[in-house]
Amino acid sequence: MNPLVNVAPDTSPQHDSARQKDSQKAGARVGLTADSITINGGKPLTGTIAVRGAKNLATKAMVAALLGETPSLLKDVPDISDVQVVRGLLEVYGVKVTTGARGEWTFDTGKVESAHFAEIDAHAGASRIPILFCGPLLHRLGEARIPDLGGCRIGDRPIDFHLDALRKFGAVVDKTYEGINLTAPNGLKGALIELPYPSVGATEQVLLTAVRAQGITELKNAAIEPEIMDLIAILQKMGAIISVEPNRVILIEGVDRLEGYTHRALFDRNEVASWASAALVTKGDIFVQGARQTEMMTFLNVYRKVGGAFDIQEDGIRFWHPGGDLKPVTIETDVHPGFMTDWQQPLIVALTQAHGVSVVHETVYENRFGFSEALNEMGADIVVHKEGLPGYPRRVARRDFEQAAIITGPTKLHGANIYVPDLRGGFSHLIAALSAEGQSVISNMGIISRGYEHIIDKLEALGADFVYEG
Ligand code: EPZ
Repeated sequence: MNPLVNVAPDTSPQHDSARQKDSQKAGARVGLTADSITINGGKPLTGTIAVRGAKNLATKAMVAALLGETPSLLKDVPDISDVQVVRGLLEVYGVKVTTGARGEWTFDTGKVESAHFAEIDAHAGASRIPILFCGPLLHRLGEARIPDLGGCRIGDRPIDFHLDALRKFGAVVDKTYEGINLTAPNGLKGALIELPYPSVGATEQVLLTAVRAQGITELKNAAIEPEIMDLIAILQKMGAIISVEPNRVILIEGVDRLEGYTHRALFDRNEVASWASAALVTKGDIFVQGARQTEMMTFLNVYRKVGGAFDIQEDGIRFWHPGGDLKPVTIETDVHPGFMTDWQQPLIVALTQAHGVSVVHETVYENRFGFSEALNEMGADIVVHKEGLPGYPRRVARRDFEQAAIITGPTKLHGANIYVPDLRGGFSHLIAALSAEGQSVISNMGIISRGYEHIIDKLEALGADFVYEG
């Protein structure tokens, strides 16, 4: 029995344009339901796709606009449902959002006002981004109301680091049955904060709160992913004073006023890694326009070890399967500059085709191999060990919920009916179906539209063989 079948579909009330478009296209093609597609596998993906701004930067940059007294312009905003969720929330708080050509969005924050919980909840959707509104709303309104969060089911996804940090700034956190209410009766003051783990979200929480707090904030054990550095660049453009010290320490001097910014979002590293893996799995050749080497170096090293070929060009990176056997590897996911946890799912599909035994040790989330069930039903041989691998000195202290997947290949994948469990796992199912022998039906495609812009169009442009209606 495929355990994925019980995963509740992402039925968040706000239907974003991206999701609707992709679903309508999907429905038009195969007619099964608007949220599922049918694919004939075995065709290599070849051609060019343009990667847009990073889902995990653009959404935070939109929240940062709330801190500016004047309008902001963000370029390369991806047309994905996570972005639509943040747009809905900003508009609930009175921000005027306008979308221009080629993903250029403007945010006019001249009139920011309180919102009712029901309105906030209606727009929060299956996203974790609402928690990042705390600092900006406390600065602008003196209060913040955050509903319970969504996000991919890849672990417990707690927010204790966020709430502990906000309390250190002087916020009063009141948990209610609807979510959390925050106030700052004495304003927000700079604080000394040390994160128990270099959490991306908690680092963003501290940055978005500290920039307008009174005094200096020292953040220790911070995340320093490229998306964090891009958010720091945006905040600096707005007037913030932030320095990134050695040893993951970030210093922020609070200022009295921030202006709007103009910024082109960093490209989406996770999307690049996904398409690179797709080229390998389908024995294809994909040029990813907009991909840059610097932020992808760790991935490129592993890609080369597996046997993938890539060519760094000025305006992107070409990824292809050069022929020959793929080789097994041992990977441990880590914080930047390690191998990102978001990269392991699509690459594991390629490892099912490698000649030998690969090991992927997941150290960031406690349930990030859920997608392997469907791959095993398609013929893969993936064994997930709940206890992870024996500890040895590492960048980040070992935590007791790590896991390891043992992938034995090569295995022949055959088509199956698949229910997509989460965003990155869903992309893995897609590329497995594209490379499998026979037909696959993939449902709950809406989750994939959360993070991959116009996924159906891009797959079709690369030669994916969809089964058409009628
Ligand atoms: C961000 O999630 C990304 N999401 C994730 O991408 C990414 O996998 C992750 O960072 C790690 O790089 C967005 O930016 C929207 P964390 P985030 O806080 O911020 C624990 C995707 O597919 N933790 O770095 O939620 C947490 O449980 C998504 O695009 C606490 O314990 O990740 C996890 O074990 C998936 N308490 C670890 O830290 C907290 O308060 C890392 O989480 C916060 C986090």
